[in-house]
Amino acid sequence: MKPNDIIHTNQSYWNDHANYWFGTTALPTYGVYFPTEDDLHLFDDVAGKKLLEICCGSGHSLKYHADHGAGELWGVDLSQKQLDNAAAYLSESGYTANLICSPMEAELNVPKNYFDYVYSIYGIGWTTDLQGTFNKIASYLKKDGIFIFSWHHTLHYCVA
Ligand SMILES: C[S@@+](CC[C@H](N)C(=O)[O-])C[C@H]1O[C@@H](n2cnc3c(N)ncnc32)[C@H](O)[C@@H]1O
Repeated sequence: MKPNDIIHTNQSYWNDHANYWFGTTALPTYGVYFPTEDDLHLFDDVAGKKLLEICCGSGHSLKYHADHGAGELWGVDLSQKQLDNAAAYLSESGYTANLICSPMEAELNVPKNYFDYVYSIYGIGWTTDLQGTFNKIASYLKKDGIFIFSWHHTLHYCVA
């Protein structure tokens, strides 16, 4: 399959199944069998900071950071249905975020050299271009900005 076909297939899947994944893999959880953010403290104090989530899904991790006083929240996801759920979920708590519907592999319409944190919770492994995606993420971070992501270990498939 060509990368664009994979992206299109994944987009259809996530649009059709968005409601089944509502809040399932979101901070403080990093993933299945993982220590949590409450254990790891990978994020320092996010108060007033600018954060971009890659594959933001239903917006639960964005809300986690909003609850901790984040200054600016941006989220990218290829599923408009996920973003609709995220916008509704955030607005229930009086929060807003800049939500962008795009594959992470594309050049995103976000500021460069801007974010204190770019992060992705259980999303980055769906990229069809890992190096290209990492390069783009680096360009969105400001100097000394931090990239945090989680994905499963291949051993995960061997654990009942
Ligand atoms: C497990 S969910 C992540 C949930 C999210 N961490 C949260 O807090 O709700 C994975 C997300 O990755 C998105 N996704 C999959 N492939 C993508 C791609 N190529 N570019 C952008 N988003 C993608 C899906 O639409 C889905 O919302």
